[in-house]
Amino acid sequence: MNFRGPFRVRADQKPYPKILHPNDAIVRVTRSCICGSDLHLYHGLVPDTRVGQTFGHEFIGVVEEVGSSVEKLKVGDNVMVPFNIACGKCAFCKQELYGNCHESNPMATAVGGIFGYSHTAGGYDGGQAEYVRVPYADVGPTVIPADMDPDDAVLLTDVVPTGYQAAEMAGIQKGDTVVIFGAGPIGIMAAKCCWLFGAGRVIVIDQLEYRLEFVKNYANAEVYNFNEIGDPVLFLKKATDWMGADACIDAVGCEAAGNAMQTITGRKTLLQAGSATALHWAINSVKKGGIVSIVGVYGPTDNLVPIGNVVNKGITIRANQASVKRLLPRLIEHVQAGRINPKAIITHRIPLEEVAEGYHMFSAKRDNIIKPVLIPPSART
Ligand SMILES: NC(=O)c1ccc[n+]([C@@H]2O[C@H](COP(=O)([O-])OP(=O)(O)OC[C@H]3O[C@@H](n4cnc5c(N)ncnc54)[C@H](O)[C@@H]3O)[C@@H](O)[C@H]2O)c1
Ligand SMILES: [Zn+2]
Ligand SMILES: [Zn+2]
Repeated sequence: MNFRGPFRVRADQKPYPKILHPNDAIVRVTRSCICGSDLHLYHGLVPDTRVGQTFGHEFIGVVEEVGSSVEKLKVGDNVMVPFNIACGKCAFCKQELYGNCHESNPMATAVGGIFGYSHTAGGYDGGQAEYVRVPYADVGPTVIPADMDPDDAVLLTDVVPTGYQAAEMAGIQKGDTVVIFGAGPIGIMAAKCCWLFGAGRVIVIDQLEYRLEFVKNYANAEVYNFNEIGDPVLFLKKATDWMGADACIDAVGCEAAGNAMQTITGRKTLLQAGSATALHWAINSVKKGGIVSIVGVYGPTDNLVPIGNVVNKGITIRANQASVKRLLPRLIEHVQAGRINPKAIITHRIPLEEVAEGYHMFSAKRDNIIKPVLIPPSART
């Protein structure tokens, strides 16, 4: 997969990746996904996204080669690879903030390295490919349990941990009402995970009926289409006895629809780093003293966010890139115990060579798409 410019990607031949450091591994990819985060790149909203970059931060595969210092992996291992690239040794990795590694991304001091993202996240080529170089091979990659379906495993590299962390950061107390903005894969998984933390009521807001229908069934959520409820903030206040939700989750990020001014300044003219509509709604519909948990992605520069309301309502905001490695052990258990069924959200299986069509379809939300998986030729039977 090769990025050629906004709204243009294509399948291409690129050189086989090389071991560049003794702790690298080369992985032959067997599954990779397209994510909402890839759409921010595809739509040209992320600074320093370079032509020639291979995207893809959600992938699993077979270890093909290992560098001389790799101890935990061996050739032939079937691994899932967290989307964060983390050194495992810096002050932040030691706190299990694997999304904020201080070593893997020399371009920034905020986010750590991410596979297949822009050069603001280190510029590493990603897994929407046949082969990928995996740095710090002893840190991130985790051997897939023998009884685990590869479709479940690939969703453990991002979607499940991100949804779970969104719920975790929401600080849910037993019986709490949680509102989730966004019914994409991340919002769907967050809705599912809120119950694991003891939520009493889970509400999901989107405008795509087919996704609302899915999350209603998959996660037993109460769902509303924001085009049909008037002012969503007023509606949600009313729906929560005028108190507001105990916690709100932003699972939309910088491409939110629903407010013309935010859309024009954030997505069309780029006067701010994306539209903050869902974040607005989250801050304004959470109760006083409540928690807003943000996993939707925003650019590094300014956004028009109602910070005064955050102060005056005494809201706690918690946000991060998911720390995949920290969460994997318990999430593997949840999947094995049947409490989460990740693969149910996969709607499309697309040959890697047809990646351009895959992006187009996912971007346009055609064909009731929820989660597309790309399958390279070597993994097809
Ligand atoms: N923090 C992390 O670690 C992490 C990891 C993965 C994805 N993400 C981010 O999470 C977000 C969601 O990812 P996804 O794969 O589910 O994307 P997606 O594009 O499939 O889904 C986004 C959904 O939000 C809906 N939406 C748009 N405006 C809305 C609004 N104002 N209110 C409610 N819903 C609205 C869209 O209709 C769509 O269904 C993206 O910003 C992505 O970059 C973050
Ligand atoms: Zn992702
Ligand atoms: Zn680190």
